[in-house]
Amino acid sequence: MPASNARFVVKARELPVDEVFLDLEDAVAPAEKERSRAAVVQALRDGGWGSKVRAVRVNDARTGWAYRDVVDIVEQAGGSLDAIVLPKVTSPLDVGWLDMLLSQIEQASGLARGRIAIEAQIEDAAGLAAADEIAAASPRLEALVFGPADFMASLGMRSLTVGAQPPGYAGGDAFHYAHLRLLVAARAHGLQAIDGPFAAIRDAAGLAASAASAAAIGFDGKWVVHPGQVDVVNAEFSPSQADYDRAELLIEAYDYYTTVQRRGAAMLGGEMIDEASRKLALVVAARGRAAGLDRTSRFEPPQ
Ligand code: GLV
Ligand code: MG
Repeated sequence: MPASNARFVVKARELPVDEVFLDLEDAVAPAEKERSRAAVVQALRDGGWGSKVRAVRVNDARTGWAYRDVVDIVEQAGGSLDAIVLPKVTSPLDVGWLDMLLSQIEQASGLARGRIAIEAQIEDAAGLAAADEIAAASPRLEALVFGPADFMASLGMRSLTVGAQPPGYAGGDAFHYAHLRLLVAARAHGLQAIDGPFAAIRDAAGLAASAASAAAIGFDGKWVVHPGQVDVVNAEFSPSQADYDRAELLIEAYDYYTTVQRRGAAMLGGEMIDEASRKLALVVAARGRAAGLDRTSRFEPPQ
């Protein structure tokens, strides 16, 4: 949310989200940039964020605002900050710059070295083309974030609604390539992949479709830009009860077959399961546990 809007910042503390980021970039007008830094520092220092990851999106590395965004926020509230979201990353140098600056401020301010993580937004053609190098640019990186708005503009997509499919496109999902490209780069370097915003606030079905598509191919989460979007996105990124139950069942069954029966492949409910199935099940089970689901069935070993 824009750091310049005090009402939003208060409201955000109550929302059931995993992470909050206070924005100093595109949701803050140029005339408000300087004043908003103080608002960010205050909001972080005031606390009340519970277990949410606390992040700030600074201006991009090619602006005159970026260095002071980082210096002021981390010097004055670095102990209450978990991550910096760096927008419009087009090269590993952007991440290297931020990594170095953070190291300097951490040292000078007595903060633990490396405590502030980086989330890099990939949101134009140059950034996507360099996704692998960007993903490898710093041990501070925790996530690559897809930015559909800037990306659509960078490619010249004919649409005015951020995150929505461009009208007239007949090829399926216009973001498929970008999503997979970013996801592969993220996974190859052990990072999370996060999808960006869907701006049509009242289009819950469009938001659900956008979130479902990103979740289905493996993304870890998605931004929301309005409180009304939180439940829809949380639901799409949580496995169904049936899938969660099956995942836990599969893990338990496979453990039984490999240890008690010493078999690497077995049948479960009409499907063959093996070590690769177990790996798939671990992903679904971890997400179900993270979403707070409880199992409703147990594995019964064959008599
Ligand atoms: C977000 O920053 C976007 O450009 O979509
Ligand atoms: Mg953007």
